Amino acid sequence: MYGLVNTAVADLARAVGGEDTWQAIRARAGVTEVAFVGMTGYPDEVTYRLVQAASEELGLTTEQVLVAFGRHWVTFTAAEGWGPLLQAAGGSVAEVLAGLDALHARISLMMPELRPPSFRCEPIDATSLVLHYYSDRPGLSAMVVGLVEGLGELLGQEATARQTRGTDDGADHDEFLVHHAPRPT
Ligand code: HEM
Repeated sequence: MYGLVNTAVADLARAVGGEDTWQAIRARAGVTEVAFVGMTGYPDEVTYRLVQAASEELGLTTEQVLVAFGRHWVTFTAAEGWGPLLQAAGGSVAEVLAGLDALHARISLMMPELRPPSFRCEPIDATSLVLHYYSDRPGLSAMVVGLVEGLGELLGQEATARQTRGTDDGADHDEFLVHHAPRPT
């Protein structure tokens, strides 16, 4: 994945426990890079090792780390200059979720090696929808839960996601039931 992702893991680790915590996670993951270049691709394995090391170092499950990472990603990317792109994707949780493929397609113009996931929304009513998540990377579904929560926080529209089906149950993709507060006026 692009170095931006690993930089966000480092940023989250520093926010949680300071520089020492990040250095302990980096050492435990066997990562020799002292910093990542945001616009350069790194093997996915580096990110998976960092998540695993963070879970061991912080005494959290990998799911808990991924939820925290998803929440952090939204504010981190905004601070790194990607905010306007996200804002252009919509003014409500449902709009942004419906436009995620278009958002990642725009990002691909700047990150040509991007291998983005794909999302599809199935509206239920004014405050809920089913979010379908297609990815060829295993084990990241908990990140989607955090991303939805983080998006809600950013937009001032509280949102939750609960996984209802997944590749673990033999499905070909993951599904989430998303509840969100009514669209802000
Ligand atoms: C402007 C904001 C965003 C940027 C810059 C961005 C960029 C990226 C990047 C660089 C990756 C790594 C993929 C790779 O390097 O091949 C990624 C992956 C991912 N993105 Fe986004 N993204 C943004 C917003 C979002 C949002 C709002 C969601 C969902 C609510 C989302 C869902 C995901 C997921 C689940 C992955 C994991 C990769 C996978 O499943 O294969 N992203 N994104």
